[in-house]
Amino acid sequence: MSSTVPDLPAIHEFLLCPTPDAWVQAALAEPEMLLVDHANCEKKAAGTALNLMFRYLDDFELLNKMSRLAREELRHFEQVLAIMEKRGIDYPHIGASRYAAGLREQVRSNEPGRLVDTLICGAIIEARSCERFACIAPHLDDELQKFYQSLLKSEARHFRDYLALAGKAANEDIQPRVQKLLEVERELVEGGDGEFRFHSGVPQQH
Ligand SMILES: [Fe+2]
Ligand SMILES: [Fe+2]
Repeated sequence: MSSTVPDLPAIHEFLLCPTPDAWVQAALAEPEMLLVDHANCEKKAAGTALNLMFRYLDDFELLNKMSRLAREELRHFEQVLAIMEKRGIDYPHIGASRYAAGLREQVRSNEPGRLVDTLICGAIIEARSCERFACIAPHLDDELQKFYQSLLKSEARHFRDYLALAGKAANEDIQPRVQKLLEVERELVEGGDGEFRFHSGVPQQH
């Protein structure tokens, strides 16, 4: 599939590891949970963008990009919701995986480190989402396959936007920070996790 999506090689090069095959198997074993947690991820992605808009009022480019991003993520949420409704899938409250919290733990508390790290985490989460949509799409039915292919293009664009904003917000080379956060991400993705989620590591049998 990478031949049809020009951004995918860059995403694969950016992330330190591919999604383990055991995650793909877990996703296929829990198709309803995949959609439920996917819906949550889209909501959270919009929420992250909105939080940045409340915290940083002096950067109009950031405000504008985050506003557009939040709207796009909410549109994705509506698309997932429509598929769930059509398929008669309930929407229960479920706990989040440790992925986003594990990344956010690393965010520095002093500015501009806090903004820069939050934006780098955004870039990493978008890159991983893109990579996972590409991993799982070929195994899904036509409707989901088309939907996930369209999403992975937006997530690749969000990845680039977040990374560019992080570079602009920093007054130093962001590469060492990107590398450090990518290493944390690799541990979260390759490590074991209690339950299957869109961003979980490898779910353990229990
Ligand atoms: Fe999205
Ligand atoms: Fe996104």
